[in-house]
Amino acid sequence: MHASPLNDQVLLVTGGAGFIGANFVLEWIAERKGTIVNLDKLTYAGNRASLAALDNHPRHIFVEGDIANTALTSELLRTYQPAAIVNFAAETHVDRSLHGPEDFMQTNVIGTSRLLEAARAYSNGLPVAGQKAFRFLHISTDEVYGSLEPGAPAFTENSPYLPNSPYAASKAASDHLVRAWHQTYGLPALTINSSNNYGPCQLPEKLIPLIINNALAGKGLPVYGDGLQIRDWLYVGDHCAAIRRVLDAGRIGETYNVGGGNETRNIDLVIMLCNMLDQMRPLPKGGTYSAQIAHVADRPGHDRRYAIDSSKIESELGWKPKESFTSGIRKTVEWYLDNLDWMQDATGETYRQWIETNYALRPKVPA
Ligand code: NAD
Ligand code: DAU
Repeated sequence: MHASPLNDQVLLVTGGAGFIGANFVLEWIAERKGTIVNLDKLTYAGNRASLAALDNHPRHIFVEGDIANTALTSELLRTYQPAAIVNFAAETHVDRSLHGPEDFMQTNVIGTSRLLEAARAYSNGLPVAGQKAFRFLHISTDEVYGSLEPGAPAFTENSPYLPNSPYAASKAASDHLVRAWHQTYGLPALTINSSNNYGPCQLPEKLIPLIINNALAGKGLPVYGDGLQIRDWLYVGDHCAAIRRVLDAGRIGETYNVGGGNETRNIDLVIMLCNMLDQMRPLPKGGTYSAQIAHVADRPGHDRRYAIDSSKIESELGWKPKESFTSGIRKTVEWYLDNLDWMQDATGETYRQWIETNYALRPKVPA
């Protein structure tokens, strides 16, 4: 492990009850010596069960609240004096952004701008050494770059911003705010733009856990359109390692692209999941889960391909993904099979309503 100036310091993490945030918090507490103040609004996407291992942990302070609540964030900063803020908090599901973009603007744009202002006021009030050491790390997405043509080179940090969904546009706006707060006010900010994460504790509204959940429940496995869209899958543990590396050694004002190097077509991924489930949880009457695959109407404005060029973080900071796609997917399927209680908890009435809303509008289509 690299020596870290943040090893025993306090961090303010936002959105730490969500998928990536919870994985980050669990790993940080296991690996480091400092305290995490975890601010999360507990929207439908926040899940305290993902943090159950930290119940009553002396170095994890959970606060339910909104990043847009400046009085609250300022109070937390004054009280706990964190050495860094890691901003995961966001509305994150593309399909939900098509149904209701307003929440995305509120949290991802207004919320981020208010958090930046609170961070600026706090950082300005620190002694010089504290000001120099302070970091604001914003967690963002490859979706800000839009969609790649087949064979086009992967997104670099210099790719133009061409967001296509309300979600992507709101994240693009948040990235621009972070940049502006650094350029204008000197806030020591950094941004990570990563590709599609997968792993434990992801809400089954996203493709991989949705397919596992539906497969086990004997339901249809919805593949949007022709299923030939490509995503670059990144194991969440590898993303968390990249976040730690950027916090420890990233250059202020820079952005870092983080990808898994695993470009895969959706249909191939769904078949891979079915094949693994066939081995790990064979159907009682034989056959294959692939028989449940159903092509359904496509997502409007659906980005065709994402791919990330991670060479900057690899050469500057020595980060590389450790997990191969097969081992990461196997670990992930095993985790969901071993945590069916978590899955049940995450798929209650609110979830059911969303599934009805999203998939009722998606008639089956030919493959
Ligand atoms: P998630 O939807 O699983 O979790 C988001 C968390 O933020 C939830 O716990 C929610 O309660 C909390 N939250 C929402 N609004 C809030 C607010 N106003 N104040 C405080 N907390 C709030 O998201 P995720 O998949 O873990 O993504 C985390 C971050 O990483 C997001 O910024 C997302 O844009 C980015 N990202 C995600 C992926 C991915 O594949 N999941 C890839 C690239 C980037
Ligand atoms: O690329 C990073 C982004 O990855 C993050 O910024 C987002 O927060 C995260 O949600 C994710 O966005 P996607 O839209 O790529 O993820 P999702 O899991 O929703 O979909 C993955 C692909 O699978 C996408 O091409 C749409 C398709 N899909 C999705 C669902 C839910 C299906 O074919 N069927 C489905 O039922």
